[in-house]
Amino acid sequence: MDLFEYQAKDLFGAHGVPVLPGRVATTAAEAEAAATELDGTVVVKAQVKTGGRGKAGGVKLAATPAAAAEKAGAILGMDIKGHTVHRVLVTPASEIAEEYYFSFLLDRTNRTFLAMASVEGGMDIEEVAATKPEALARVPIDPLDGVDAAKAREIVTAARFPAEVTDAATDAVVALWDAFVGEDATLVEVNPLVRDGAGAIVALDGKMTLDANAAFRHPGHAELADVQAQDPLEVRAAERDLNYVKLDGQVGIIGNGAGLVMSTLDVVAYAGQRHGGVTPANFLDIGGGANAQVMADGLDIILGDPDVRSVFVNVFGGITACDQVATGIVQALEILGDAASKPLVVRLDGNNVAEGRAILAQAAHPLVTMADTMDGGADTAAELAAQGV
Ligand SMILES: Nc1ncnc2c1ncn2[C@@H]1O[C@H](COP(=O)(O)OP(=O)(O)OP(=O)(O)O)[C@@H](O)[C@H]1O
Ligand SMILES: [Mg+2]
Repeated sequence: MDLFEYQAKDLFGAHGVPVLPGRVATTAAEAEAAATELDGTVVVKAQVKTGGRGKAGGVKLAATPAAAAEKAGAILGMDIKGHTVHRVLVTPASEIAEEYYFSFLLDRTNRTFLAMASVEGGMDIEEVAATKPEALARVPIDPLDGVDAAKAREIVTAARFPAEVTDAATDAVVALWDAFVGEDATLVEVNPLVRDGAGAIVALDGKMTLDANAAFRHPGHAELADVQAQDPLEVRAAERDLNYVKLDGQVGIIGNGAGLVMSTLDVVAYAGQRHGGVTPANFLDIGGGANAQVMADGLDIILGDPDVRSVFVNVFGGITACDQVATGIVQALEILGDAASKPLVVRLDGNNVAEGRAILAQAAHPLVTMADTMDGGADTAAELAAQGV
């Protein structure tokens, strides 16, 4: 999960990284009040999860509260690389002497962590890496050793930070490592990390990506999610612990196991070419323990998608045998009642397949069509979706 700048800097602050105070505003009036409270010249900054805000006109100085209101009014609602600005951060203007770049990230290729630092901060770091690679220090971090003061000093020295900021920058780097590890992040990036007029080191910008696989260790992270920007069906699915991704087609897909679901998407997309170009409406993996409630939850999400015209249930019985899955489907249709209104094509194979098919045959639900093969099921589901369009 990517964070907004203000969220990243809140977490930075909690781990001892020097940041400036800030107030988040969603209206010009709130920005004016924030500027009054902060007293003095402020910077009004668009909060969107993309870079280049400065160049796009999303970062503006305001000398008075009235000016802050005016700048906020101009920035709110702005579109920056496809992201609409819904909030701004109002923060004191810093007197910048120098701008540096700093980041910790997960280096997947080398199976380690990496620190990157440069005295060429403030600008596009990709450009620095491409045109002046010697100006970007890259220091691998052993995950078991982490970053202590000595390692931080090594990084700061490798990046050739000026001698007068070495101590302060070393402290900031140790604190950033504490934030990186303590919050289970896969990225922290500060661009610019500045030396201000008084010689202090301050993180003026902040970018952070949290590892969703570690969410269970951080109950507080859930409230950092930008629910407003998420697909409502994905939000509902996440609340029920379903592995669901919304796509833009017409054939709802339910399967067990990510690999099977991925290949089902391919087969349905291929079959769809014969039936007016219909495509999968979603990815949904109900996993190993597909009981009736999980099946009902999954069907409920998929049938709640107005784009869906038909549903293809493709299950290979393993630990959860086909008869349990079939019982799950029958019970799910009972639970959903009239909410189940679109045709369902069911293909079962594997453990206890005969029993599973018998259960569905016995139930003889008018919406359910059985398929013998994955290709056949995909074709029928695509055909039904094309008829329903
Ligand atoms: N509090 C501040 N005081 C003074 N100047 C600031 C402040 N915050 C940001 N700036 C200036 O605005 C520039 C852009 O801000 P920031 O880095 O936060 O946004 P960005 O989206 O990363 O923009 P860009 O990608 O264009 O650098 C900074 O490099 C800095 O020069
Ligand atoms: Mg920046």
